[in-house]
Amino acid sequence: MQLEGKVIVITGASKGLGKALAQRLAKEKALLVLSARSGTLLQPLAKELDAAYFVGNVASEKDMRALADVAIQKFGKLDIWINNAGAWSPLTSIYAFDTDRAKELIETNLFGTVFGAKAATAHMLPRGEGTIINVLSTTALDGKNKSAAYGADKFGARGFTLALREEMREKNIRVIGVYPGGMRTDIFVEKPVEYESFLDPQLVAEKIVQNLCLDTPAEELVLRREEKSLH
Ligand SMILES: NC(=O)c1ccc[n+]([C@@H]2O[C@H](COP(=O)([O-])OP(=O)(O)OC[C@H]3O[C@@H](n4cnc5c(N)ncnc54)[C@H](OP(=O)(O)O)[C@@H]3O)[C@@H](O)[C@H]2O)c1
Repeated sequence: MQLEGKVIVITGASKGLGKALAQRLAKEKALLVLSARSGTLLQPLAKELDAAYFVGNVASEKDMRALADVAIQKFGKLDIWINNAGAWSPLTSIYAFDTDRAKELIETNLFGTVFGAKAATAHMLPRGEGTIINVLSTTALDGKNKSAAYGADKFGARGFTLALREEMREKNIRVIGVYPGGMRTDIFVEKPVEYESFLDPQLVAEKIVQNLCLDTPAEELVLRREEKSLH
């Protein structure tokens, strides 16, 4: 797919993988709409990349509809929507499982993906084309020790992704699931982890963009830590 002139929405674009994707896609001359809950980092990034931006929460269906509206008002169409925003919680035994915290993760990582996809498809279905990318995690593939809450919401988001893909297949809307291994980002800021062996988010962004540029992109893109040498 040629990305020049494509209108691309990225949630969670102010930091980490979302920011790396925005910077990489700007090089392809895509027309970007960036979003996050705080404008502090988002606004200067949008200015630097000549992108539109919207401050909103993926856990709000209303905000996700408003984000799609920004893309339509500014650029008149919506080609690609990247559900990237996500949260994490420190590793804990299920005996210390914090239900309120787990609900927050589910609202962001699972419902955020659902609301983003609903907002995107509302505009893509009438045009009969579009691409949705859901950033999941290898935690959506493997049960990881002491990662019950994050694992539950990422497995949930994966289940949603697989169902959405089948429903959208006959509508000419492509649905791609991306499964990165650990990346060196601020997601771990609450309880830093030893992440020297983790992936550089810029490398993950590069792999996602390379896949998108293919005539037939992979529907399931698994980027494990061992693959960090793949450029
Ligand atoms: N880092 C890893 O090891 C790793 C591995 C596999 C998968 N992932 C996934 O990759 C994605 C990006 O993670 P990252 O590591 O780049 O995280 P990050 O550096 O912490 O960045 C998260 C981004 O999402 C935004 N965000 C968080 N909660 C949000 C909400 N409720 N509504 C809207 N925006 C929200 C943040 O901005 P605001 O705080 O201003 O909203 C920020 O822009 C996530 O889906 C994560 O689960 C990460």
